Amino acid sequence: MAKQKATNVTWQDGEVSREDRFSILRQRGATVWFTGLSGSGKSTIAVALERALFNIGKLSYRLDGDNVRLGINKNLGFSEEDRTENIRRIGEVAKLFGDAGVISLSSFISPYKADRDEVRSLHEAAGLEFIEVFVDCSLAEAEKRDPKGLYKRARAGEIKNFTGIDDPYETPVDPEIHLKTDEMTVEQEVEIILDHLRQNGFIMQQQIPSADNTTNTASL
Ligand code: ADX
Repeated sequence: MAKQKATNVTWQDGEVSREDRFSILRQRGATVWFTGLSGSGKSTIAVALERALFNIGKLSYRLDGDNVRLGINKNLGFSEEDRTENIRRIGEVAKLFGDAGVISLSSFISPYKADRDEVRSLHEAAGLEFIEVFVDCSLAEAEKRDPKGLYKRARAGEIKNFTGIDDPYETPVDPEIHLKTDEMTVEQEVEIILDHLRQNGFIMQQQIPSADNTTNTASL
């Protein structure tokens, strides 16, 4: 865990509570954390899920490995230490989004179990939900897909410390959701996650007043 460096700093509360924010958004903030090999389908599923949530009026935001590494984490590489810091920072960012009421969709290889567990603990301590989604895809299949041509370059020795080739990936032990992407369609995967969000109350039923002034409940 990162050490607290600054001294004489205290948490400042506001006048609008987390529950207030959740109630105006009609959803509960949470973190959906996709973990899996490069090319396993994390970002593809996150993009489709973001669209599906948007279509039912729910606010989500994608935090994507490559995107984040072009911005807030541009000073980090792929050593074990840098990957840990990458995940720690983004875990904190996801937590802030969750507190704001947004469902963050975080797609990072996040190869180390200890780093993922640390983000889970961070959320638990803050009373926020962390939904770990193991985007399971064999190395052979990820390498066959090779959407960015990176496996080929890693095999040729042009990229060092590449996950699955000469760097480890620690398989999740007890994820909330396990998607076998070589056996399912993206639509099926999105539906499984939406079901989880519905069943656990992250996507609330919305009260829509009807024309005759009685209230209908739409399952949004
Ligand atoms: S993580 O290990 O720190 O979680 P992250 O998800 O942010 O990784 O970034 C992975 C992405 O960076 C891959 O999808 C790939 O496009 C790119 N990449 C570049 N070099 C490497 C590498 N050595 N290992 C893994 N991914 C790499």
